[in-house]
Amino acid sequence: MSYDNITLKEDGGIRVLSIHRPNKLNALNMATIRELSEVLMHLEVSEDVRTIIITGSGEKAFVAGADITEFADFSIAQGKQLSQKGHDELFSFIEQMKTPVIAAVNGFALGGGLELALSAHIRVFSENALVGLPETSLGLIPGYGGTQRLANIVGKGRAMHMILTAEMIHADTALKFGLTSEVVPQKELINTAKKVAKKIMNNSPNALGKAIACINANYNSGVNGLDYEIEAFGDCFGSPDFKEGTRAFLEKRKANF
Ligand code: COA
Repeated sequence: MSYDNITLKEDGGIRVLSIHRPNKLNALNMATIRELSEVLMHLEVSEDVRTIIITGSGEKAFVAGADITEFADFSIAQGKQLSQKGHDELFSFIEQMKTPVIAAVNGFALGGGLELALSAHIRVFSENALVGLPETSLGLIPGYGGTQRLANIVGKGRAMHMILTAEMIHADTALKFGLTSEVVPQKELINTAKKVAKKIMNNSPNALGKAIACINANYNSGVNGLDYEIEAFGDCFGSPDFKEGTRAFLEKRKANF
């Protein structure tokens, strides 16, 4: 597969997906969203893919937002459709993937860029990361899940502050807010993300997918997260991974998932 706006590199069970629109600070136009969606759907069903890292190409930006030039003349109906399509094809899809996704944020992550990072399961930031949801400065609100996911991750008060002021925050503040797990020098970012990926890959893919679904369940309206956990926990007992994991423990060896 070849794409115009993204690149994909393989490292064992890890795939590193880079958004590559160097002249536009990797802004997400519709073609890029389509390509990301297509490649992620493919990776999700590829058994050899155990973790995915999403980053931005270059040293300045992860993603500087949705491409403003594409929606500048949109109507109400087009605006709704843009948001719905983004949720369905990319942002909610990533959040619900069973394959763990790590966002390696390497510079500006604004608007749709931060929303992309918020959809990932884990975030690591480089020291030069500058992130925010500046949509209210454009007469908009975040439309790719930012109002919900930012509040879920950093808390309602901080989300209100960030969205209402439209301010960017630096990596060190993001760390204090719990918006990122780690902040590292830019040249170490991808290796740091790969180290996290490798720790994840020691564990059962079946259990990882179920854990992601359970953690997410509590944020879906009408779903009782504890009931969901009981079901998923029980299902684990029927998996080959459970047999292997427990046998390996009893035989004092590392599990081979
Ligand atoms: N949509 C479309 N184009 C974008 C973009 C976006 N979200 N973000 C950056 N670009 C383009 C710029 O228009 C510029 O293109 P040009 O050279 O053809 O004029 C190019 O990327 C480089 O950006 P520039 O603004 O010159 O870089 P900078 O270092 O001066 O500023 C930012 C960087 C991120 C502060 C600034 O680009 C910015 O504010 N971008 C928009 C952020 C935003 O509001 N995102 C939310 C969208 S919903």
